[in-house]
Amino acid sequence: MLERVKTGIRGLDEIMNGGIPKGQLVLLSGTCGTGKTTLCSQYIYNGLTKFKDNGIYLSFEEIPENIRNNAKQFGFDFEPFEKSGKFSFIKYDPYHVEEVFDILESAVRDMKAQRVVIDSVSALGIHVRDKGELRRMIFNFSTTLRKLGCTALLVSEIVPGSGGISRYGVEEFVTDSVIVLYYERDEFTFNRAIQVWKMSGSDHSKKLHPYKITKKGITVQHESEAFMRKT
Ligand SMILES: Nc1ncnc2c1ncn2[C@@H]1O[C@H](COP(=O)(O)OP(=O)(O)OP(=O)(O)O)[C@@H](O)[C@H]1O
Ligand SMILES: [Mg+2]
Repeated sequence: MLERVKTGIRGLDEIMNGGIPKGQLVLLSGTCGTGKTTLCSQYIYNGLTKFKDNGIYLSFEEIPENIRNNAKQFGFDFEPFEKSGKFSFIKYDPYHVEEVFDILESAVRDMKAQRVVIDSVSALGIHVRDKGELRRMIFNFSTTLRKLGCTALLVSEIVPGSGGISRYGVEEFVTDSVIVLYYERDEFTFNRAIQVWKMSGSDHSKKLHPYKITKKGITVQHESEAFMRKT
């Protein structure tokens, strides 16, 4: 039986057959504003508050202050956990990109973190020469985190209309599992939907499910199916 790490996000664990298989690197992709950062904050916050899992949030673009304040709007207050040494935001300026693995590894060890977020590979990609190198870097993240026993989310931004499920088209091949967030406009409303695209070594829902972002964060309607035009 696969050991699972629960996101604690209502409906999301259900469509993943109980949660993320422990030790996996999960790609979380979607166009802008689909709630990637919100989902990641919620994953870490639930870990801290419900599952006694410590965490690291590695960001390449946004400053911790912004992520911290946005998370607070949803009731995810990280400050007490930062103070007690259970959680840490790391803002990494990808100048010497290769250093990131050492920095991540020592942060995970210091914090004894079980949950990690990397937000986002799109920002990292700007500093990497080619797709092959980016692929190798993601693979490095995957092996580093697996070695440390962490279960992690890696964010990638989809360019609207591109038809792909990641920014560079390589992320989904190097990650164990893939979750895609969709955002589509019909005549009168915007619709949000989520899909588990793949999950290594495990069954999962193959359907598109509606999800909501409310003032408490993300909830997935795992019993309903969403229907969208091809994007
Ligand atoms: N307090 C709130 N209540 C309800 N919905 C909110 C609230 N705050 C933000 N949202 C919704 O969440 C969306 C932003 O989510 P988030 O920043 O997590 O997206 P993202 O996918 O990380 O975006 P980006 O690609 O720009 O990084 C907003 O566009 C808004 O629709
Ligand atoms: Mg974001």
